[in-house]
Amino acid sequence: VKDDRIAHISSTIRVIPDFPKPGIMFQDITTMLLDPVAFKDSIDLFVERYKDKDISVVAGVEARGFIFGPPIALAIGAKFVPMRKPNKLPGAVISEEYSLEYGTDIMEMHVGAVEVGERTLVIDDLIATGGTLVAAINLLERVGANVVECACVIELPDLKGRDRLGDKPLFVLFSRY
Ligand code: PRP
Repeated sequence: VKDDRIAHISSTIRVIPDFPKPGIMFQDITTMLLDPVAFKDSIDLFVERYKDKDISVVAGVEARGFIFGPPIALAIGAKFVPMRKPNKLPGAVISEEYSLEYGTDIMEMHVGAVEVGERTLVIDDLIATGGTLVAAINLLERVGANVVECACVIELPDLKGRDRLGDKPLFVLFSRY
């Protein structure tokens, strides 16, 4: 997006080379959280986009989708639904296995958290390969949710995650190459 607030937000996100593995340039949003203006501006940008879109569900992906999702949900009058790592949720869950660079992982959500047809936003801090967002979309659509868009703070376009989302719209604050 084009907005005067983006450059400052971007400047607060620290890059840590070779974390957690050699070759990964880790985008560390914790340094943005230390800057109340940058953190608020990031939330405001999402709220401005989604406030009048009749969204009743904000689904946040563990772990950093739990930081950005709840303030957005509160501001737009939606519920917040956590998409969690396996064996964390106490109620009945549905699960989706998805592939990582090495091996697979599982994402879970509570059955009954989202009703058929609910207009849903999926939020995370970052899209890399897109595998995580695809898993979240699949889980939500399996329970009948209408996933209207995915939103992230950062996109790594070189990894082509956007392509894996197919027709599903993706909104990001900025890209890093
Ligand atoms: C990061 C990031 C996204 C995911 C994106 O999470 O926060 O959730 O990777 O990668 P993808 O687009 O290739 O699927 P991470 O694996 O660091 O897990 P964590 O948030 O639980 O620490």
